[in-house]
Amino acid sequence: MKSDELFAKAQKHLIGGVGAGGRFHPLFGHAVYFARGFGSRLWDVDGKEYIDFFTGSGANFLGHNHPAIREAIQRALEVGIICNGETEYHSQLADLVSEAVPCAEKIRFANSGTEATMGAIRIARSYTRKPRILKFEGHFHGMLDYLWYNCSAGVGDIQEDGTVTPLPDSQGMPHALADLIVVVPFNDLNAFERAVQVHKDELAAVIMEPISYNQGCIPSDPAFLREVRRICTECGIVLIFDEVLSGFRMCRGGGQEYYGVTPDLCTLAKGLGGGVPIAAVCGSTEVMSVLNPAGHTVMSGTYTGHLTAVMGAIACQKEIAKAGFYEHINRLADRLYKGIADGLRITGVPGIVQGIGARFGLYLGVTEPVTNYRQAVRTDREMEIRFLRGCLDRGLYFHDYGRTMHHGFSSQHSLSDIGEALNIIEDALRGL
Ligand SMILES: Cc1ncc(COP(=O)(O)O)c(C=O)c1O
Repeated sequence: MKSDELFAKAQKHLIGGVGAGGRFHPLFGHAVYFARGFGSRLWDVDGKEYIDFFTGSGANFLGHNHPAIREAIQRALEVGIICNGETEYHSQLADLVSEAVPCAEKIRFANSGTEATMGAIRIARSYTRKPRILKFEGHFHGMLDYLWYNCSAGVGDIQEDGTVTPLPDSQGMPHALADLIVVVPFNDLNAFERAVQVHKDELAAVIMEPISYNQGCIPSDPAFLREVRRICTECGIVLIFDEVLSGFRMCRGGGQEYYGVTPDLCTLAKGLGGGVPIAAVCGSTEVMSVLNPAGHTVMSGTYTGHLTAVMGAIACQKEIAKAGFYEHINRLADRLYKGIADGLRITGVPGIVQGIGARFGLYLGVTEPVTNYRQAVRTDREMEIRFLRGCLDRGLYFHDYGRTMHHGFSSQHSLSDIGEALNIIEDALRGL
């Protein structure tokens, strides 16, 4: 197999045979080496075709090789591979984002979701002059040492003050940084209130995924979210929605439009550019004004708002703004999630599917709705592995993240792709 040959070669100089750790696919024992992506499909180097339910961790929201994004990148190349330079296109993209995202009065670009969340918490610390950040168990905000706690490291002990012991998700993070984080169970208002009561004078920000997509798809309880908003305002804490995954996923304004709750800041990536490397921090003029050159808080970079990414993202945003875009996404979503639920029922496999817009979680071995991380990690991992393997063998590409299952489709998927995927899913469930 060509994949095996490539893996052998890759190991010579790429540590673990991969350019990024997350691309190792535990079920294959190596990365999947792709030859091509087009529309809703991926092909590996051995010629196997897959319907893509990974979509580049949600970045390929417009599918692969979308003609509008490709043409925009080609036009950008004609302008020149301009690094660290401002153009007319930067404000065009900012206008489109501001039109779509409720909190986005002002925007600053970044290269990745990790960089955007790093910027957002720096802004919050600068604005409030307070040091600590409250995050929720299971919510992922990128790989920065300040926030990478309690996403996959397991379940920490619950303390008297409603908080959970911070557990780092990677080795190599200085212990001292754990003092700057306050972790609280998601959707637990009582724990949140107690934690804020105790720590409010030190809390710069509450950061959260409005929909915990990194644990599959765990929606915020709307009443909980409204209270989080109210309490943050009351206590002078900046509320940050990390919309790196939820942005644009079910409607143009992302989680904040979906819930009708506007944060002070939000971070965007993935769906912002439909596959080009771009991210952003957005927020109210008042809070964003701490950023240089308006203020004295620095956030910049050589590749920040790279022209190819900016022009690609403009094309992506114009596609998203077209009439009928979300009707299509939500039609596919309804068909898919109902179809999976039917498949579980027909085959008698214990499991539950939860999806909002173009992203979903499939939890096998549990049958009650999943409302927090503690429930999400109770799934039957062994059954999930057999299910994933069954789908991959039959040509439906799911990435294995090692624990929870979060997946999605793109705007280039069709109802017939979804029908085909549902047949594969039902077969794989039957195989269990
Ligand atoms: C909610 C959320 N925040 C931040 C990140 C980090 O983004 P990136 O991988 O672009 O650094 C991710 C990535 O999956 C994410 O889902």
